[in-house]
Amino acid sequence: MRSRWFAACTLGVESALEAELSGVGAMSVRTVPGGAIFDGDTSVGYAANLWLRSAIRVQENLIDTQVSSPDDYYAAIEAHPWEDLITPRHTLSIDASVADSFTTHSGFAGLKAKDAIVDRVRSRTGDRPSVDRTDPDVPIKVVLKHNRLGVSRNLSGLSLHKRGWRPIQVKSPLNEATAAGILRLGEWDPTTSLLDPMCGSGTFVIEAALRAARRAPGLTRSFAFMRWPDFDEQLWTDLCDDARGRALQTLGIPLLGADRHAGAVSLARLAAEAAGVADLVRFEQADIADFRPPAAPAAVFVNPPYGERLGEGEDLERSWVQLGRFLKNHCGGAQVHILCGDKALSQHLRLRAARRIPVRNGPVDCRVLRYEILAPRQARSDAPPA
Ligand SMILES: C[S@@+](CC[C@H](N)C(=O)[O-])C[C@H]1O[C@@H](n2cnc3c(N)ncnc32)[C@H](O)[C@@H]1O
Repeated sequence: MRSRWFAACTLGVESALEAELSGVGAMSVRTVPGGAIFDGDTSVGYAANLWLRSAIRVQENLIDTQVSSPDDYYAAIEAHPWEDLITPRHTLSIDASVADSFTTHSGFAGLKAKDAIVDRVRSRTGDRPSVDRTDPDVPIKVVLKHNRLGVSRNLSGLSLHKRGWRPIQVKSPLNEATAAGILRLGEWDPTTSLLDPMCGSGTFVIEAALRAARRAPGLTRSFAFMRWPDFDEQLWTDLCDDARGRALQTLGIPLLGADRHAGAVSLARLAAEAAGVADLVRFEQADIADFRPPAAPAAVFVNPPYGERLGEGEDLERSWVQLGRFLKNHCGGAQVHILCGDKALSQHLRLRAARRIPVRNGPVDCRVLRYEILAPRQARSDAPPA
């Protein structure tokens, strides 16, 4: 049965998500800020959860209609055949958001939606499902904007960036889905080498390895839809078997990370182990001032420290100055992408950005800065005659 789906992503990576969706059989893909809408049957919805790297959630739209009063709103939700989607044994949660509509109160909208669903299930089955806000079987999203009501069910449950491989929550990690989106925004060719010289817990390198090895990011976790009464277990098993069959066990390219903190490097190694890519990547402990990669990489993706979260004052500036030197001296010919949350710090690189792509990183409005570092011979022949 054909449905309308929505995949949510970090603001700024929508075009990466759009490119990925074409690979899972999505039809009529349309990006909106923070995600993409698409059509397809159940296998497309399942495959989106299994394969999308830059999405944080996939949901199925159930209701899309105009309403003008609380009674209208209740009736529109109650009319849906919820008894096919939630039994009294299942739990649900409602996440409601409201803007410019007959009510301005999202709490009211959430409560009324819950009543409509519970009343419907009780009237058809004689019993009612209960609410669980922390780990619901069926997470429901309600959006009421300009009196347009959208109700959907969230297939993913836990955010899709939680792949299941990060061993412990670290201080300032890059969200896995954002990292995967930036790799695509930066047009990284997964058959070529990649380096992150300030890799922290290794997110860029591990996401790069998973992609290069064609490992489906959803194979190592579970999803809310697996608990639903209409879960098609055979379809899911077939999709997972197909995904396992596509995975590569070896790669012919170096994927390398380095960081000056021993703790970060051991976390990155643990995470690579948990992600099943320990044999495909390498992590070294080195300050960027001393680090020498074995060969210039084809691509550099890096998220240097910025703002209050990690580095401090002069040390922070020093790291950016040294990153600029390192790129010029050891990354000739590389395409470099730097996730930057502080424009002033990027001046210390002493490089001219070829592109600036706005991307949100947690609460910070960042830019992905693209630099094209000249290959050594090109740099020499471009130099003015002495
Ligand atoms: C924002 S964090 C990177 C987070 C990382 N993308 C992740 O996925 O966890 C910045 C990292 O830069 C490292 N760093 C800062 N100055 C450095 C230097 N001079 N040489 C090497 N690493 C440095 C820090 O140790 C920190 O792990």
